[in-house]
Amino acid sequence: MNDTTTPTTAIPISNPNAPTQNDALNSTQDNTSLFSSSLISAEVSSRLPEGYSIRPLRRSDYNGGFLPTLKVLTTVGDISEEAFTTRYDFMATRNDTYYILVVCDENNIVVGTGAVVVERKFIHHLGMVGHIEDIAVAKNQQGKKLGLRIIQALDYVAEKVGCYKSILDCSEANEGFYVKCGFKRAGLEMAHYY
Ligand code: ACO
Repeated sequence: MNDTTTPTTAIPISNPNAPTQNDALNSTQDNTSLFSSSLISAEVSSRLPEGYSIRPLRRSDYNGGFLPTLKVLTTVGDISEEAFTTRYDFMATRNDTYYILVVCDENNIVVGTGAVVVERKFIHHLGMVGHIEDIAVAKNQQGKKLGLRIIQALDYVAEKVGCYKSILDCSEANEGFYVKCGFKRAGLEMAHYY
């Protein structure tokens, strides 16, 4: 993985190029996954194109293709590494709620991503619902069934952690894709923007 993280609070020691305690800490944290890899379906992994992989998001993905991939979906904005890390760390402390995964190509570049956010309810016997969000496949990687694999992997996570269903909102233009992934139209999305 790319890992060019520079600690902002490194303590100067005699050799300025020697690894510091913060380097060690950051490098350990950068390789930590947002959630347990045991929630990644082996069957879905085995159906990816040769050399591709699927795994939970990592903090070090700031430096890879994760944010550029999301740009095929919508505006991402100019996110600093500090802001990215703060958001990642927030999600990592709630690793029973935020499940963001990425697909990497044979060069370990992120080319696809998707999320399921688990909502805990009082209804349906304290039921849990998976909200599938932010599905994106890099433009030059579309049509290789990566989107399908991302949805299958998110479905696996949602079912495994105890959700009784997963739901999502999408445009009419993407309805056919989600139908192919096994979803069916149910209701109507409404929105209030602030
Ligand atoms: N309409 C109808 N069918 C589609 C569409 C579509 N828009 N897109 C793909 N399909 C079909 C494919 O032809 C394929 O069918 P097949 O099994 O008969 O061959 C099947 O769906 C699976 O397609 P994939 O190859 O897995 O699709 P891809 O990897 O290209 O990913 C995606 C699809 C995620 C929609 C991608 O095009 C993309 O990133 N688009 C831009 C971002 C976007 O719109 N994301 C979804 C937002 S909604 C949300 O996030 C909840």
